[in-house]
Amino acid sequence: MRIAATADLHFSPQSYDRLREPLSHVRDEADVLVLAGDLTNYGKPEEMESLLNALVRLRIPTIAVLGNHDYESGRHEELIKMMSLEGIKILDGSSYERDGVGFAGTKGFLGGFGRGVLTAFGEPEVKAFVQASIDEAMKLERALSLLRAEKRVVIVHYAPIADTVRGEPPEISPYLGTARLAEVADRHGCNLIIHGHAHHGAPEGKTTGGIPVYNVALPILLSQTPPAVYRVFDV
Ligand SMILES: [Fe+2]
Ligand SMILES: [Fe+2]
Repeated sequence: MRIAATADLHFSPQSYDRLREPLSHVRDEADVLVLAGDLTNYGKPEEMESLLNALVRLRIPTIAVLGNHDYESGRHEELIKMMSLEGIKILDGSSYERDGVGFAGTKGFLGGFGRGVLTAFGEPEVKAFVQASIDEAMKLERALSLLRAEKRVVIVHYAPIADTVRGEPPEISPYLGTARLAEVADRHGCNLIIHGHAHHGAPEGKTTGGIPVYNVALPILLSQTPPAVYRVFDV
């Protein structure tokens, strides 16, 4: 299966203008399209409506997770409904199998990497924050444990490893993702992990267990030579 992946479209009619032409070829190059979150800028149904108008024209099976921007207006459930009605498969702690390939996805959360992973200690506010991070990791765990397919792809919005946020200011690295997501993937096994969110991070890295991780945030794809609007993976 050929999987075209992109993330962080932050859709606006103006920004989509330069993506329209290159994205129109995706159907010739891939069997499915993966969108790894931040589909909209402010999580407004109007934004989603315009994006969906553009996406249906691509006529390719699409699998997506939401990103933090899609939560901004508190209307994410409405967005999920709108996308489902157009046949887009939204993964939110859930899994999906297609042509022998299993996809497990969730938004993920922040919380840091390595020795910097924040732990639930002290104030209730810190504990609540850490719990949100653990909850997303557990959602991914549940999604992965439901998959029976041998080939598995994990889709998250937040970064699961520090390697693919490198290039961003180090001060904000704990806010770009959490290693808790990678730990789950390592425990259950998968062929690759796709994420976005770190717009100025690095395009690829590996988990400690050796799983390849790809950051397909649109600004990274566009900054490559030649510039691209998605990256294709063979699974
Ligand atoms: Fe983003
Ligand atoms: Fe994001």
